Amino acid sequence: MRTLKVVALNGSPRKDGNTSILVRHIFDGLENEGIETELVQVGGQMIRGCTDCGKCFVNRDRRCASTDDIVNDCIEMMIGADGIILGSPVYFLDVTSELKALIDRAGLIARANGGLFHRKVGTAAVAVRRSGANHTIDTMLHFMLYSGMIVPGAPVIGIGYEIGDVRKDEEGIARAKEVGKNMAWMLKTIARTDQEEDV
Ligand SMILES: Cc1cc2nc3c(=O)[nH]c(=O)nc-3n(C[C@H](O)[C@H](O)[C@H](O)COP(=O)(O)O)c2cc1C
Repeated sequence: MRTLKVVALNGSPRKDGNTSILVRHIFDGLENEGIETELVQVGGQMIRGCTDCGKCFVNRDRRCASTDDIVNDCIEMMIGADGIILGSPVYFLDVTSELKALIDRAGLIARANGGLFHRKVGTAAVAVRRSGANHTIDTMLHFMLYSGMIVPGAPVIGIGYEIGDVRKDEEGIARAKEVGKNMAWMLKTIARTDQEEDV
């Protein structure tokens, strides 16, 4: 079987903060199964929102016409991956603005090019102090489901405020490890089916 890869996009500006800790626990479950992982720092970058210029539907070149930030690099990594993890801290009961800008632009590019994320396996991870985790998860899952991705069960919520707090949330950490295992199982099952269909 070919090597499978998962890319995670972290919407937190805190590079090694709570969201990153949760994502790395998901990675454990994936890496134990021989799946390659890569974490991309989206939060803290200057990322513009979608300008609705419509050029993606004219060019259909898998790229956004706004080229002065990291969004096209992210899209390329997402296209090249078998699985995609979106991670975000809760900011005013939703994802960070950097992650939302990426969701809008990557989502539209995928759509303009015939469904670039179709059948990729996806999950989401949220770090939260107290309120808004489910709404934040919904924002990320809506992107995945409307992009035709496959989500293997419940995503990850970790409770914490200061950097490192989520490590004390045993249930959240256990959930992250479990999600990594589920994601690995689904990725391998899909890859095996694709392989059989190719024979
Ligand atoms: C601008 C801002 C808005 C926030 N809004 C919320 C919120 O609505 N609900 C909540 O529970 N926590 C909120 N928080 C707390 C973060 O979600 C929490 O500290 C989280 O663990 C940060 O994760 P990180 O270390 O990955 O950045 C907010 C933090 C900031 C900086």
